[in-house]
Amino acid sequence: MRKPLIAGNWKMNGSAELIETFGRTFAGIELSSPVDVVIHPPFPYLDAARSAFAGTPLALGAQTLNPLPSGARTGEVSGEMLAEFGVEYVLAGHSERRQLYHESDEQVYERVIAALTVGLKPILCVGETLEERDAGQSEDVVLRQVGHVMARLEPGQRRMMTIAYEPVWAIGTGRTASPEQAQQMMAAIRGYQASFDSALADALRLLYGGSMNASNARELLAQEDIDGGLIGGASLKVDDFKAICQSAG
Ligand code: PGA
Repeated sequence: MRKPLIAGNWKMNGSAELIETFGRTFAGIELSSPVDVVIHPPFPYLDAARSAFAGTPLALGAQTLNPLPSGARTGEVSGEMLAEFGVEYVLAGHSERRQLYHESDEQVYERVIAALTVGLKPILCVGETLEERDAGQSEDVVLRQVGHVMARLEPGQRRMMTIAYEPVWAIGTGRTASPEQAQQMMAAIRGYQASFDSALADALRLLYGGSMNASNARELLAQEDIDGGLIGGASLKVDDFKAICQSAG
């Protein structure tokens, strides 16, 4: 059985106060079965989060990293810096990075490699736009994004990976993929993985992302190939996020 993973992506939101609230709330959380839970706050809050989350089930995640270990890259943060602050997971290829900052599949791959090099666990985000879905290209797009990274990793590196399927049209729109649509894509991703590494395909955690909330989480998480969620908006509300974690556990 794959252990569920619930990841909260705060994007450019949150505050020192919200970090404290999450630390307090999750200190006493009861889950009926084991779940991994991670919060990805903005960089400036990582150190406060490390302290506030100590002794809670909350792990620390980052939202991106620069592929280089150090150097003249104003405004950027390296994997080594994240590791030094106790970060365990890092997102790569979030659609907002792909669209707003023009990150290509190759740049996403470079970030994944940089993360793996310093022992961070990448969460590779993939997903089609509405135009691509309407044109019947969803699976081609998603498997291209997955393959560009996964096919080039060593088996040991692949075992560090999590993949988050986030249809772009469902992110922040309140329009969730139906459980059947999400399951269909997850099965395609797992099937693709099985074509060259069947042991990994069984172990690989696949997350759904895109307007997941406290009301729809249970039904999505009940799908055979959905092993967790990557949650944006609802991860900023501590009670909602807690309820989602409880739906998974
Ligand atoms: P959302 O964001 O839950 O607000 O749709 C998900 C994400 O961008 O990871």
